[in-house]
Amino acid sequence: MSINQTKIELIQPDDWHLHIRDGEVMRDVLTDTARQFARAIIMPNLKPPVTTVELAKEYRARIQAHLDLLGITDFAPLMTLYLTDNTSVEEVRKARAQGITAFKLYPAGATTNSDFGVSDIKHCYRALEEMQAVGMPLLVHGEVTSPDIDIFDREAVFIDQILEPLRQKFPELKVVFEHITTLQAAHYVRDSSTGGKNTLAATLTPQHLLMNRNALFAGGIRPHNYCLPVLKREEHRLALLEVATSGNPRFFLGTDSAPHSKGAKETACGCAGCYSAFNALGLYAEAFESVGKLEKLEGFASFFGPDFYLLQRNTKKITLVKQAQDIPTELPLGNSTIVPLRAGESIAWSLI
Ligand code: NCD
Ligand code: ZN
Repeated sequence: MSINQTKIELIQPDDWHLHIRDGEVMRDVLTDTARQFARAIIMPNLKPPVTTVELAKEYRARIQAHLDLLGITDFAPLMTLYLTDNTSVEEVRKARAQGITAFKLYPAGATTNSDFGVSDIKHCYRALEEMQAVGMPLLVHGEVTSPDIDIFDREAVFIDQILEPLRQKFPELKVVFEHITTLQAAHYVRDSSTGGKNTLAATLTPQHLLMNRNALFAGGIRPHNYCLPVLKREEHRLALLEVATSGNPRFFLGTDSAPHSKGAKETACGCAGCYSAFNALGLYAEAFESVGKLEKLEGFASFFGPDFYLLQRNTKKITLVKQAQDIPTELPLGNSTIVPLRAGESIAWSLI
């Protein structure tokens, strides 16, 4: 990595948590992601969800068809399966044999398109046992869904009620605590003992590193800053920034870029999800620079993810320059439009 005041050269990053949806919109969102990232973990929360190896293969073929049409040859989607109460041991074995990268646990009702999610983790014990045995990572949306738990507490309660008992029961299972948003999650991942093994990690989004919950209500309600897990207090943002920039390999990049059309966001019951794919790397660079830790960006963005997933690191280099880039107020999204994160503002770092 080389850094000076105006230029950062680093190994090309990957995005370890990404939503690209399906159909025509993929054309637009894949273009944004592939401009920056070499690989991305593709989330399986389609309607209906990607619950089997067959469905994942079909989805991968649709993604590949779009990449071919776009002439993109240097981007690889990494496929995941959506864990359900009924995921079988055979499906886990088949997933392992056929190159599926991970399973995703959505507690039922936790977020966008999670109605088919797990109703009780006990229903998944046999599948989880097999995942542990074959080294298949489990990616978790770490929030409880009980309506009597305050929405700002759902991640911290998930750690105590679900995650820690799960890790006690399956100590060798590889777990990624996705898009963490709290000090409790940051410290849990930082401080948990894994017996020296590479079994616990967390991804961090640009929005949770750059914004606190005030950004939801700045001068009026701000639907484009609303995602799940929801933004938290400043003390949480600071704890996330601290672990992300610490050089600890348990923390790596996952944008959780989650496209929803402008209309689906700007409505009486708007969807959760921030669209950060347009200039995600610029946003991460801004976050790292804010605490004088740009030299830690490459490990977080380009090394710790592949190391955790036991994949090769990328070799191609990319360059970010300190050159203000205006973020458009809207971008095309299939037949509609989307409002990217920081729309209408300017971002200091741009990819050349
Ligand atoms: C995601 C989506 O829209 O698919 N939304 C979000 O707010 N992050 C789902 C998710 O990752 O929770
Ligand atoms: Zn997500």
